[in-house]
Amino acid sequence: MYEEAVELAKRRGFFWPSFSIYGGFAGFYDYGPLGVLLKDNIVRVWKEEYLNDGAIFLDSPNVTPEPVFRASGHLARFSDLAAECEHCKNKFKLETVLEFNKIKYIPATLQDAEELAGQSNLKCPVCGSIIKKVYDFNLMYRVTGDYYLRPETAQGIFVNFKLLANYNRGKLPMIVGQQGKGFRNEISPRQSLIRLREFNQCETEVFLDPENLEFRELYDFKKIIMRPNTGEELYISVKEAYEKGIISSQAFAYFVLKTQIILEKIGISNERLRFRQHDPDERAHYAADSWDAEGLIDNEWFEIVGIANRTDFDLKNHEGSSGEQMRININGRDVMPYVIEPSYGIDRILLTLISQTMDKRDGKNLLRLPYYMAPYHVAVFPLMKKDSLKERAEELYSGLKNIDKYVLYDEAGTIGKRYARQDEIGTPYCITVDYQTLEDNTVTLRNRDTADQERIKIDDLLKGDYIKSLIENKLKL
Ligand code: GAP
Repeated sequence: MYEEAVELAKRRGFFWPSFSIYGGFAGFYDYGPLGVLLKDNIVRVWKEEYLNDGAIFLDSPNVTPEPVFRASGHLARFSDLAAECEHCKNKFKLETVLEFNKIKYIPATLQDAEELAGQSNLKCPVCGSIIKKVYDFNLMYRVTGDYYLRPETAQGIFVNFKLLANYNRGKLPMIVGQQGKGFRNEISPRQSLIRLREFNQCETEVFLDPENLEFRELYDFKKIIMRPNTGEELYISVKEAYEKGIISSQAFAYFVLKTQIILEKIGISNERLRFRQHDPDERAHYAADSWDAEGLIDNEWFEIVGIANRTDFDLKNHEGSSGEQMRININGRDVMPYVIEPSYGIDRILLTLISQTMDKRDGKNLLRLPYYMAPYHVAVFPLMKKDSLKERAEELYSGLKNIDKYVLYDEAGTIGKRYARQDEIGTPYCITVDYQTLEDNTVTLRNRDTADQERIKIDDLLKGDYIKSLIENKLKL
């Protein structure tokens, strides 16, 4: 459904390529009117779920001075191996060239890559010439002088650790979340929202006492595909994975489980979600262990959330570079916390959500978003624009707006077309004012998923909690 999802997203106003009047620039996308609302709903689920576990939040700058990234290792090590065809001048991620040449081996260092390029005839995926030039390409955008755009929101949290710990009265565990933009000069942006140069992250840094890598109790939830880096594939619950030693610490397992639950709440299908552990040479420079939550779109798995054990890597480096103590006192012990980081890529989650919930009924598109995730909850239509139906529908629309802001009004086209428009953007309920309304003050209420209709009294609809109960699935139609 990827192609259909991207087409629908552009046509109906979820997202589209940025700057298109100037020909478009790879790696940048705009969210349109519906995309903004859907993105907000994803962020809301993330925020509320972490608030449940006592998270606090931060909002720090995108533009970051060089010393931060010198300390964090991003200046020296946040790079991709790249290749350039000297004939057609195209630049690629080395992985793309290796894939094109059907080479399975991925070099870990520039030296290995140079050896490989020297020994193999690596063909350019565009013009077929032999590629000889391989190099390390730092992914950070330098803005001016000694400033960079942040490639992850995380560093803002690490450099503020002392202030945040004071705010939190020195208690561990401490969870700090940050929602914001990340920027990476990706060599080859691709597949709309999958690899962007400017993207949206919701990251949480969980600071733990290294002598107590435990968080709240793990509980049994649905089984899920788990792929540890030993090569096996298991279908077990996260709790079982921890008990069998597949996930190393209780706290790490807790945040894998939490990620599974959050993604399910957002509407990602558990059957099309898996957790995959990184191979040691695949990990980011700061990570001692990493698991990705991957979502399935058509037949391809994409990383949507990265969960890393960052140990005390960042705090130690910032302490060393800044001279500021990054420790707290716990019962007389001087503790530099360990960090577990679940990092959610909001763009990829949104794309996966649209792709996975897109469906067809009688040849027409239907977006089966969870009701509370839909950009709009209800659409109100007059059956016709005459005989005071329009006025009654407008009156109902304003009444509903006082209860729920996410209400649309539509009077254009046939009623069938209006239903189809709402089905396609995932609106769970449509209300139609018709001739019977004029007689008995009732309307039809139609459900997106079943297309079933019921007559409901307007007075009931306007009772405070009626729409809310429908959207939260407490009332069925
Ligand atoms: N702070 C850790 C970190 O940034 P990451 O695995 O590089 O980890 C986390 O990124 C998430 O951010 C990914 O799982 C992905 O969803 C999203 N992401 C990363 N790079 C992206 C890009 N170029 N375009 C879109 N999303 C991206």
